[in-house]
Amino acid sequence: MNLKNKIVIITGAGSGIGAATAKLFGTHGAVVVASDINLNNAQKIAGDITEAGGIASAIKTDVTQYQEVEALIANTIEKHDRLDVIVNNAGIGGKEQLKTAEHTHDDWHNVIAVNQTGVFYCMKVALQHMMRQGHGNIVNVASLAGLKASGHNLSYSASKFAVVGMTKSAALEYARKNIRINAVCPGFTHSALLDQLLAVSPDMGEKLKRFIPMGRFGEADEIAEAICWLASENSKFITGQTITLDGGTSL
Ligand SMILES: NC(=O)c1ccc[n+]([C@@H]2O[C@H](COP(=O)([O-])OP(=O)(O)OC[C@H]3O[C@@H](n4cnc5c(N)ncnc54)[C@H](O)[C@@H]3O)[C@@H](O)[C@H]2O)c1
Repeated sequence: MNLKNKIVIITGAGSGIGAATAKLFGTHGAVVVASDINLNNAQKIAGDITEAGGIASAIKTDVTQYQEVEALIANTIEKHDRLDVIVNNAGIGGKEQLKTAEHTHDDWHNVIAVNQTGVFYCMKVALQHMMRQGHGNIVNVASLAGLKASGHNLSYSASKFAVVGMTKSAALEYARKNIRINAVCPGFTHSALLDQLLAVSPDMGEKLKRFIPMGRFGEADEIAEAICWLASENSKFITGQTITLDGGTSL
């Protein structure tokens, strides 16, 4: 994979899949802009990348705030002259695992704001710049929950189906403009987000693993590999697609 000197923004880069992705881009010689609502965590990841010999900086961005997204991308262009890749990874789960009739308004609004509206804002602003520069690559982090039903999770499911839909629709619009847009759909993967779900009950981990033919959760760096591949020229004839990384769960 040749990612050397690519200018790459990763949202939600302070933890889990975003952090692993930022580090893998760094290992491949990309110029990493690690963005997160939690600046300390983003700075730590950027520090890890530079300590390992890579190039990285950190910036605080709440993807639910359009002006912050504009500032993130304007700042990157100002510093590096272009934006080759944006990985729209920032995401949250609902606080409570309840059926639809009990799904809380708070969970609905918060999850949709980050997972769906945040991806829309980042794609909208990034595409304006990518159109001007004549090339670009967007990788959205959706979920297996964006491809098939999952109970007690309505806002999350709605937001991730939306990410898959936005990926395909925008890919169609920009295919002739030298801009590719794809998504990854991870199944359960070790991260802070999964820990939140596992905390619901002591046997939750074992229950969930029963649905995974490989019998284990994914690792963040396994998802990062697919994201980097989609961002590289190695996948240059692929656009509007989803790659499912779920240990066989969808089978
Ligand atoms: N872990 C899984 O099992 C799994 C499965 C499928 C999809 N995903 C998706 O992967 C992505 C990454 O999640 P993760 O599992 O690494 O979780 P995580 O909680 O470890 O990381 C999410 C990151 O997003 C950041 N973030 C949250 N709200 C934000 C906002 N408003 N603006 C900017 N950053 C914000 C957090 O600070 C955190 O650093 C999410 O989109 C998630 O839905 C995760």
